[in-house]
Amino acid sequence: MKTSLNPKFDQKVDSILSLMTLEEKIGQMNQYNGFWEVTGPAPEGGDAAIKYEQLRKGLVGSMLNVNGVENVRAVQKIAVEETRLGIPLIIGYDVIHGYKTLSPIPLAESASWDLDAIRKSSEVAAAEAAAAGINWTFAPMVDITRDARWGRVMEGAGEDPYLGSKIAYARVKGFQGDDLSAINTIAASAKHFAAYGFSESGRDYNTVDIGTSTLYNLVLPPFQATVDADVKTFMNSFNVLNGIPATGNSFLQRDILKGKWNYKGFVVSDWGSIGEMIPHGFAKDGKQAAELAANAGSDMDMESRLYVEHLAALVKEGKVKESVIDDAVRRILTVKYELGLFDDPYKYCDEAREKAETGKPAFHEAVLDMAKKSIVLLKNENQLLPLKKEGLKIALIGQLAADKDSPLGSWRALGESNSAVSVLEGLQKYNGNNLRFEQGVRLTDETPVFIKETKINTTDRTGFEAAKTEARRADVVVMVLGEHGFQSGEGRSRTQLDLPGLQQELLEEVYKINKNIVLVLMNGRPLVIDWAANHIPAIVEAWHLGTESGNAIAQVLYGDYNPSGKLPMSFPKTVGQVPIYYNHNSTGRPGNPGGDIVFWSHYMDAPNEPQFPFGFGLSYTTFAYSNLKLNSDSFAKTGSIKVSVDLSNTGNYAGKETVQLYIHDLYASVTRPVRELKDFQQIELQPGETKTLVFTIDEKTIGFYDNDGKWVVEPGDFKVFIGGSSQADLEAEFKYNDK
Ligand code: NOJ
Repeated sequence: MKTSLNPKFDQKVDSILSLMTLEEKIGQMNQYNGFWEVTGPAPEGGDAAIKYEQLRKGLVGSMLNVNGVENVRAVQKIAVEETRLGIPLIIGYDVIHGYKTLSPIPLAESASWDLDAIRKSSEVAAAEAAAAGINWTFAPMVDITRDARWGRVMEGAGEDPYLGSKIAYARVKGFQGDDLSAINTIAASAKHFAAYGFSESGRDYNTVDIGTSTLYNLVLPPFQATVDADVKTFMNSFNVLNGIPATGNSFLQRDILKGKWNYKGFVVSDWGSIGEMIPHGFAKDGKQAAELAANAGSDMDMESRLYVEHLAALVKEGKVKESVIDDAVRRILTVKYELGLFDDPYKYCDEAREKAETGKPAFHEAVLDMAKKSIVLLKNENQLLPLKKEGLKIALIGQLAADKDSPLGSWRALGESNSAVSVLEGLQKYNGNNLRFEQGVRLTDETPVFIKETKINTTDRTGFEAAKTEARRADVVVMVLGEHGFQSGEGRSRTQLDLPGLQQELLEEVYKINKNIVLVLMNGRPLVIDWAANHIPAIVEAWHLGTESGNAIAQVLYGDYNPSGKLPMSFPKTVGQVPIYYNHNSTGRPGNPGGDIVFWSHYMDAPNEPQFPFGFGLSYTTFAYSNLKLNSDSFAKTGSIKVSVDLSNTGNYAGKETVQLYIHDLYASVTRPVRELKDFQQIELQPGETKTLVFTIDEKTIGFYDNDGKWVVEPGDFKVFIGGSSQADLEAEFKYNDK
C-alpha cells in the first residue's frame, strides 16, 4: 500500500513516477562514486565509461565524493540536461566533522555534552558543504560503542544511549536545520543501521551477535532519536546482526524502521555492502544479493552496482515486486523535492557563494568554541594547570605538538593537509614565557593517509637526548602524545590501546628528569594510560580537535578557557577489560566476599573499574554536591518526582559543570544496568556561588524495552544518583507503582 511520505510532494512524486520506465526507476536507486575528472574528458573504456553512459541514460540517482561547485555542476548538468526526464542527482559526501573548516572529531565533540554547541558545529559543516555543491552528508554516525579497539569510536558519541540519542538529535537538527530546502542545510544520514558498533573484538566489519535487550535499549534508541529529528536518510551497515547482514535485514529495515517507526526517508546501503552479502555467506551471487537487499528495504545501492545490473530482471521474474521499487523511488524523489532540487537543481552550485563561505571567520570561531568545550581535564595534581602566563621556562615535547595534520583527525572531508593550528603555534601566541620545542621521537616516519595502513615502527631514539635537555632546563614540560590523525577511523582497529611507538618510553625518560609534566593526549579513542595516570601530575584529553586545535589547547592550558568536558566513553586500565562501560548489569556475584575467596566476578590481575569512568572530567575549580532531595519517595502512573541538588563552586575559578542524573532499577523482568544516565544539565558558577538544580523523574525515566522490544514501565524500587560522573555518590531511593 502506498503511504504518504510528504503530503506536499506526494502528487508530484507520483506523477514523475508514472512517467518512468522500470530501468529509470532502478537508476534512481543507484549511487556511484565520483568516477572521472568531470570537468575533463571521460576516460575511455573501463568502469568510468560505463558509469558515465549510465548517468546519461538516467540510470544514476545519486553520486558521492563529487565536490566543489564546478564538479557538482558538471554531473548535475548531465543528469538534468541530458537524461530523458532530467531528474536531478542528490550529491552525498562524508561531511563528518566539517567540510573544510574542521570541528573536533565527533567523539571529542560528544565530550562537551553541549548540545547547542554540537548542533552549531553540524550547522557550520552543513553550510560550508552546501556552499560547495553538497546536499547530503553521511552523518551522524550514531552507533553506540563500548570497545575502544574499534577505530570508529572516533566517529560516534561513545557508550551511552541517552547521551548518544541527545547528540544524534542535535546533529541531525544541525545538518538539516528547520528548512531542508534552505541553501545552507543538507540532508543527514543516520548510520550504520544497525549495531555496527558492536563488531566482535573491536575488529572493523566483524560479526555482531548481541542480545535483544542490548539491541532495543542500547543500539536502537539513538536511531529512533534521529527519526524524531526527521532525519531524511539512513545508511545500513557492513555487519551481520545475529547472522543476518544488516543490508539484507528485513527485521531492521522493514519491521522496525519503516514499520514500527513509520520512517518516511530512504535507506542507502553502505559502500558495496549489498555485494558483501556474498562473502558473508548470505547470498549466493550478485543477483540474489540485489534481491535480498531490495526486499529487505535497502532503497539505494552505494557502489555495489548490483541494483542497476539485476533489479529489472528480478522484477520481471517476480522475485522483487515493482511496488518495492516504486516505494524506494518515491522515498528518494521525495527527499530530492524536500531539498528543493526539482525547483533548482543548481541551487547548491554558486561559485561566488562557495568562495564567500569556504573557511569564513565565523566558521573558525565556531569550531574553536567547539574545540575548547571538547577538552577533558583528567588529572591536575597540585594545580599544575593552568600555566602562569609569564616567567616560565616551558619545554614542549612530542612530534604531535608540532603536527598540523593529525588534529584534523580521520574523515576530514576537504580539510587541507597540514591546515590545523598546532599546539606549538597555539602556545607561541602566549609570549610571556620562554617556550622551546623538541619532538623527542617520531611517531611514524611515514606520512599517514586516509586509505593506507601507516606503520608505527620507529626505532630511532636519537631525539631523546635533546628532549631531555629541554626538560632539564624547564619549569614545566608539556608533552603532546597519542595517535596520529589516521590512527583511528574506519579500518583502524587496534589490539593495544597504549601510546603507540616509542612515546611511552620517551615519557618515562623525561619524567626521570622533570616530574612537572603536563601530558596532552591527542587521540581518536580512549587510550590505556595506566602509568601516566599514576605518575604524571596533569593530564589533558585533547582528542583530534580539528582546524583550531592548537588555539583551543593553548587557551585551556593557560586558563583562558576553564575545561568543562566529560568523557563520553570509559577509559580502561588495561586492554583486557575491554569492552568496559559504566552501564553494565550486575552479576550474581558482584562484590568481593573478602579474604582470599576467589569466587566472585573479578579479574585476578586488574580491578573491574576503569581508569577514568564515563562522565568524568575535572575543572580548574572544584564543585561540591549536597542536599540531594526528593519531593516524594514514590510516584504512581502519570505522576512524577522532583529531585533537587545543590551545586557549589568551591574553588577559585568560574567554571561549568555537567550535573548528571543516573538511576538504578533494582529488580525488573529483564535485569537493568547498575546505573543508567537519564538526564543532565550544564551550569556555570562563579567562585563561592551555589545553585539548586531540579530534575524530574517520571515514567520516561524508568521505563525500558523488554526482550520483544516493547516499552514497559514496571512497579518497583529505584535508586537515583546525582553527581559529576557515572560514579556520582549522592543517592536516594524511590518507589514507583503503576496504579
Ligand atoms: C563506508 C563507511 O562505512 C560509511 O560510513 C561511509 O559513509 C561510506 N563508506 C562512504 O564513504
